[in-house]
Amino acid sequence: MESKFLKILNKKNRSKIVCLTAYSKNIAKIIDNHSDIVLVGDFLGSVLYNYKSTKSVTIDMMIEHSKSVRKGVKKSLMVVDMPHNTYRNSNEALKNAKKIIQKTKCDAVKLEGGKKIYHMIKVLVKNKIPVMGHLGVLPQSAKSFKAKGKKLSERNNLLKDAKVLEELGVFSIVLECVESSLAKEITKNIRIPTIGIGASIHCDGQVLVTDDLIGLNPIKVRFVKRFANITKEINTAIVKYKNEVKNKKFPKKVNSF
Ligand code: KIV
Repeated sequence: MESKFLKILNKKNRSKIVCLTAYSKNIAKIIDNHSDIVLVGDFLGSVLYNYKSTKSVTIDMMIEHSKSVRKGVKKSLMVVDMPHNTYRNSNEALKNAKKIIQKTKCDAVKLEGGKKIYHMIKVLVKNKIPVMGHLGVLPQSAKSFKAKGKKLSERNNLLKDAKVLEELGVFSIVLECVESSLAKEITKNIRIPTIGIGASIHCDGQVLVTDDLIGLNPIKVRFVKRFANITKEINTAIVKYKNEVKNKKFPKKVNSF
């Protein structure tokens, strides 16, 4: 059987890769029917816990949410973010990646950065731990969330970083808020797929935070498109429930013992 990784790699230049985030089983189950990759991203710190940055997310939080997601993901490739301060050196990276894989049974881990984390990625790949890269805006260390790749020096560094990650053996790279023409150039210049978020149509695939696209997380940023307003749907259902409770219409006999 073609491995899940080969399937993703083979999509390059053929068909777009669909990637979405999930933090729990029920949403993961819905997404799994339609996506190639399900990502348990550390942006859950902001979406679920109201943290100002992903820096406060812990490995235990990632593991608990991933265990729930694992129960909903059957066919997609499941990737889990290694959170801030869990891969500061190769030993730490290996210990924590093994812990995440062993406890969550995910297929791969994602780390933010290029040549700065060369040794950490190298040790993971050497130990047969599949790695997804992440370049551009790096929320775990970013001082600003401005798009990357407008300055020539930044463009050259990002191109070099993408090459470094490819040579290290990562199976794909998330490009976050990378300027369109640079995302196109990176995508053309490496053999592994790029997955964009705010990085244009030129990437091999796209990722969005599911809570943003279904309108559950009230974020307003340029790269998010809201495909549904689930908050409105939930509100309507809750109001109906409230009214039936108040008016003694629920529960009926059929709902009682
Ligand atoms: O944490 C996350 O959800 C991510 C995506 C935005 C790519 O890293």
